[in-house]
Amino acid sequence: MIHEYYIPFKGIGKKTVYHFNDSHLSEYDSLSDEKEKEEAIKGTNDWSWMRADYTRWYGEPYEDFQQLPARKHFEMMLSEAENGDSLVMAGDILDYVSMPNIRYTDAALSGFGKPYMAVCGNHEIADEIPAGSALSGMKDPIQVLDLGDMQIIGIDNSTRTVTKDQLEALRTILESGRPSLLAMHVPVKCEQNAERLNGSGSGFQFNYDGCPEENLEMLRMLEEYEDNIIALLAGHLHYADNSFITPKIRQYVCSQALVGNINKFYIGENI
Ligand SMILES: [Fe+2]
Ligand SMILES: [Fe+2]
Repeated sequence: MIHEYYIPFKGIGKKTVYHFNDSHLSEYDSLSDEKEKEEAIKGTNDWSWMRADYTRWYGEPYEDFQQLPARKHFEMMLSEAENGDSLVMAGDILDYVSMPNIRYTDAALSGFGKPYMAVCGNHEIADEIPAGSALSGMKDPIQVLDLGDMQIIGIDNSTRTVTKDQLEALRTILESGRPSLLAMHVPVKCEQNAERLNGSGSGFQFNYDGCPEENLEMLRMLEEYEDNIIALLAGHLHYADNSFITPKIRQYVCSQALVGNINKFYIGENI
């Protein structure tokens, strides 16, 4: 299910960026031992009803084709994203880090021909992701993907915190004044989405009541540089939410990739 958005932005010719999150892949293969196989089957079974619950709770469609396995959706979305300039995967691509899951994503992404970014979700432990794997970008607290007339900045906020080092690096990147699309897993609570996010609980908010001061400092920084920020792409909720987190920055949370949700953004002056 493709959700299309147009973001006019000066200084960018035309870019098409895809975005999905929360595939919760739970795979096993011929190299897996019994324990890995059992863990993968349990993960897939658990999500088979949880993903349906989310669609029901939040009034989203759950049509026949959406009931395909998560891996099938993942492969179809990669195939769709080949039509764009870039892809952002905003966390929880894996349900948990395991070698079968890493082998699966390595194989699936080895054939993907466009520049992509994967940021860490709370289901991925950055330190456990192998260096050199297709998802190794998740290990970086801050990452940048250069797309020519714009860049994508990935922020690891998967533990609902950011460090002073991350803030310092982020400021240096934003000071360049380049148009930037931001990506992180845990969404920001704002006036527009507060009621829903409060209903989901503090675990689903980056700026929850009593959160570390660094989290609030980051939001002040985003507002300071909002003229250069194209949008913020997030995940984690398992339902779609598009809200303004500052007067100019819109946050797009894509609904769960588990059932094939993918956002497609047309960005630039000539869209
Ligand atoms: Fe998730
Ligand atoms: Fe999550």
